[in-house]
Amino acid sequence: MPRVSALRERDGNIFKAVKVAAKRGRPHPTAPTISEDTMSTPAPISTSAPTRKKVTTLTYRQKKERGEPITMLTAYDYPTAMAVDRAGIDSILVGDSLAMVVLGYENTLPVTMEEMLHHCRAVARGAKTALLIGDMPFMSYQVSVEEATRNAGRFLQQGGMDAVKLEGGRERAGAIRSIISAGIPVMGHIGLTPQSVNQLGGFRAQGKTAIAAKRLVEDALILEEAGCFSIVLESVPARLAELISKKLSIPTIGIGAGAGCDGQVLVTHDLLGLFDRFTPKFVKKYADFNHEMQKAFADYIEDVETKRFPAQEHTVEMDDREWEMLLKEVG
Ligand code: KIV
Repeated sequence: MPRVSALRERDGNIFKAVKVAAKRGRPHPTAPTISEDTMSTPAPISTSAPTRKKVTTLTYRQKKERGEPITMLTAYDYPTAMAVDRAGIDSILVGDSLAMVVLGYENTLPVTMEEMLHHCRAVARGAKTALLIGDMPFMSYQVSVEEATRNAGRFLQQGGMDAVKLEGGRERAGAIRSIISAGIPVMGHIGLTPQSVNQLGGFRAQGKTAIAAKRLVEDALILEEAGCFSIVLESVPARLAELISKKLSIPTIGIGAGAGCDGQVLVTHDLLGLFDRFTPKFVKKYADFNHEMQKAFADYIEDVETKRFPAQEHTVEMDDREWEMLLKEVG
């Protein structure tokens, strides 16, 4: 733990770096609001130029050709997008899982285009190199091919995304072709498709019989033929996912689909232990942020209640002479 004086020195240096960066014509995004009085712990500034190249759909194809696993995580806000991007992820999905893990709905059906675009914009502001994929919400692409294409366009034009994802197999081929003809890359999504939860009879694994599995193989080939740059395979048997991955020249991204896929995706809130209503079997928890958050909040409450916070270092000073003058004026 750095001592207070060391912290002040560090903060002072960072503050100077912000000023220098601004002079060189590279103002830090928050520079206009920074003042030594109000900002005691400035955001860390990355001084090194970004070394990663922007990930594109071409990178996806090249990684599959080289047999390199593709990484994807969800994000719904600016700080998470920034952290995921800086960690070196290949792609960020602004998933409609937003409905459940951020907005608290029972399933993904209620989330709207406007809500998705709002979160896409925040993610686009935070992520610089990952391929950004916007998840088309329920009823934004099912009604007509025209509506699907227009809504897909909004993800790029108004949401700052690079590509869109939509759920479904052969029944979506027409919409996918039309979206791609508008110059918008499309990621498919088959297997457990949460927007069809009512039709599927719950969040349950798919493709477990030979007939159902054959239909998924056919769907994957149809989506590839329609022009998808990649396909998410959700909650299907691992050997089926591996078979599909070998049959396709485009990469598959698995979630609950085993290690035979060309890449993997998880919902970030599951990985971080932020969403504790339920944890799917296929999730690996890398942290317990829910617990960590509760602990931090409880510590804060205790600090305020026992007057340990705010301490001297969290307060704004006033010059003694100014103070005396004030007292003379107002008593
Ligand atoms: O919405 C989402 O997060 C998804 C992933 C689970 C693939 O669709």
